[in-house]
Amino acid sequence: MLKKKSENRVLPVHIAVIMDGNGRWAKKRGLPRSAGHSVGARAFKNIARYCNKIGIKYLTAYAFSTENWKRPPEEISAIMNILRDYLKDAKNFKADNIQVKFLGDRARLPEDIRILMKEAEEGSADATGLKLSIAVNYGGRGELVAAAKILAKKAKDGVIDPENIDEAALGGQLYTAGQPDPDILIRPGGEKRVSNFLTWQTAYSELIFFDVLWPDFAPKHIEQAIGLYNERERRYGAIV
Ligand code: FPP
Repeated sequence: MLKKKSENRVLPVHIAVIMDGNGRWAKKRGLPRSAGHSVGARAFKNIARYCNKIGIKYLTAYAFSTENWKRPPEEISAIMNILRDYLKDAKNFKADNIQVKFLGDRARLPEDIRILMKEAEEGSADATGLKLSIAVNYGGRGELVAAAKILAKKAKDGVIDPENIDEAALGGQLYTAGQPDPDILIRPGGEKRVSNFLTWQTAYSELIFFDVLWPDFAPKHIEQAIGLYNERERRYGAIV
């Protein structure tokens, strides 16, 4: 049972999460890694619903990185199949009033997945609840390189003055344009790294690590993360 929520706690507006530990979860049980990803997808749906229920405005989850293509083909296709099934079940978003969006370079993804992503985004665009972003074929450095290229081209074409390039101009070229930066970045699975996730956007995020493996990640861990967020002093480098 969840602890009674304190009356005056501050809810983070934006939670980012790295879904790590699926492979180890499966290995511990003598199961194929794909089984860990399937149970991980279930945990993800549960967490998205919970965040929506308690009034979190933005949840951004790392589902597949640009580095994950180095995994065995059967594992990659298992993850793509899980994503496909999730996307086909459009009521995932509609029934819950969740607005979904995908971050990352879609060019390398199978065409049917690209179409399903577009349909899910368009079909949920009017939802007023949680704004759920799922990073697929995403890498933070690649995102910054792509943004730099766009700005360089605009400068070359005389559309912008290089002198006027500021943080807002660069942030405006990222997949997350228009979204507030994450207040907290949660990483379960025991590793204490950011792994090329939201490199620009997490400059001031509180980093919260859990030893639990992602398939076992539950609403109580979101509550613990919110508790830790409330305990930490947030000063943005200022002296207060
Ligand atoms: C990292 O754990 C996890 C991934 C690379 C895949 C995460 C994908 C899902 C949870 C499914 C996505 C589906 C939807 C519906 C968004 P790992 O395999 O690196 O774990 P390990 O460190 O224990 O090997």
